[in-house]
Amino acid sequence: MAVSQDILQELRAESDDVDLSWLEAPAAQRGLRIAPGRRGLTLEEIATGSYGEIPTTSRNQSGRMRGAGPRPDAQNTQQMWPFRSASWSASAMLLYEEAVQRQWSSATDVPWADLPDLPEDIEMAMSQLCTFLTQVEFIAGDVPGQYAPNVSGEFFEVGLFLASQIMDEARHLDVFRKRALANGIGLLQAGPGAVNLLTAQDFTEMTSTLHLVGEGFVQSLFRMGEMFAQSEVDKRMFRLAAQDESRHVAFGVMHMKYVMEVEPERREEIHTYLDRMEGILGVGSSQAGLTGGGETTEALAILLGGGTTETHLQDGYGKLLAIRRRQVNEYMHRLEVCGLGDRRQKMNPFMAAALDPVTA
Ligand SMILES: [Fe+2]
Ligand SMILES: [Fe+2]
Repeated sequence: MAVSQDILQELRAESDDVDLSWLEAPAAQRGLRIAPGRRGLTLEEIATGSYGEIPTTSRNQSGRMRGAGPRPDAQNTQQMWPFRSASWSASAMLLYEEAVQRQWSSATDVPWADLPDLPEDIEMAMSQLCTFLTQVEFIAGDVPGQYAPNVSGEFFEVGLFLASQIMDEARHLDVFRKRALANGIGLLQAGPGAVNLLTAQDFTEMTSTLHLVGEGFVQSLFRMGEMFAQSEVDKRMFRLAAQDESRHVAFGVMHMKYVMEVEPERREEIHTYLDRMEGILGVGSSQAGLTGGGETTEALAILLGGGTTETHLQDGYGKLLAIRRRQVNEYMHRLEVCGLGDRRQKMNPFMAAALDPVTA
């Protein structure tokens, strides 16, 4: 509908003090013509010229996006972190784009109609594992969600990545809940909770405990889903979740690598966070810890061994040991990439026992 001449006249009358200075002195760099690349027009491609200059410190507390011109009457939130090192991860742009491009639906991308009938003990074990995982995923969304309001517009890509992680974790929660309910059993025993994750005081503490340890262990578990999945339906579910977890872990690795480069004095602080998480996961027991509480570990052993007889369980616990070795060795590898290779000498002994020897 065309704007009536009356309304235009009225607007003009109200704008006697018209100020067109924003036309004359744009803060932005002009003349950038950015063509889409192989994966489309990505965040990395538009982070160019002055738009790609990411400051190490900023007093931008107003929600102003990096590259936009400041204004004197802007609101000041006082809640956004002024330091790039507080949250930055060099992989945030790439991982956000990948997350957007690889979203999947738990309703339609898992072939639920093909779910086979399983022996009751196996189905109960899968339902127990999924009960535990729904809780893990619920917490994995809440934990990074607490930090989104602290990310400044200068580092907005981190905020976008966190949003994508929260969406991924929501989908993981719902896919495991659907799996537990889909085949006749439903939810069983809840996990112990994760106060240690929810009470992190700082983003890097959160990354140490959630991304590097918690999600790293979950990622290794999902990657080995072929070993304990009972059907193509379950295999697909773990495969899809594993690909999402890889992004979350990669974000954390690159954040920690940056922190170690620019704030090497934080090394012992980071080790303290890892001590705490390893203490909880290692717990010195062969029955609990690295793969969840005792009941979930038993459920995994049943799934891996194929039943509840003595022979099945013996076989199951043997395979569980292989999963633990992989969890611990992949964890150590991540720490080496971050520049925390000295963790090998500091690791909780119950966990370090699963480490492969260093090869020359
Ligand atoms: Fe997840
Ligand atoms: Fe995750």
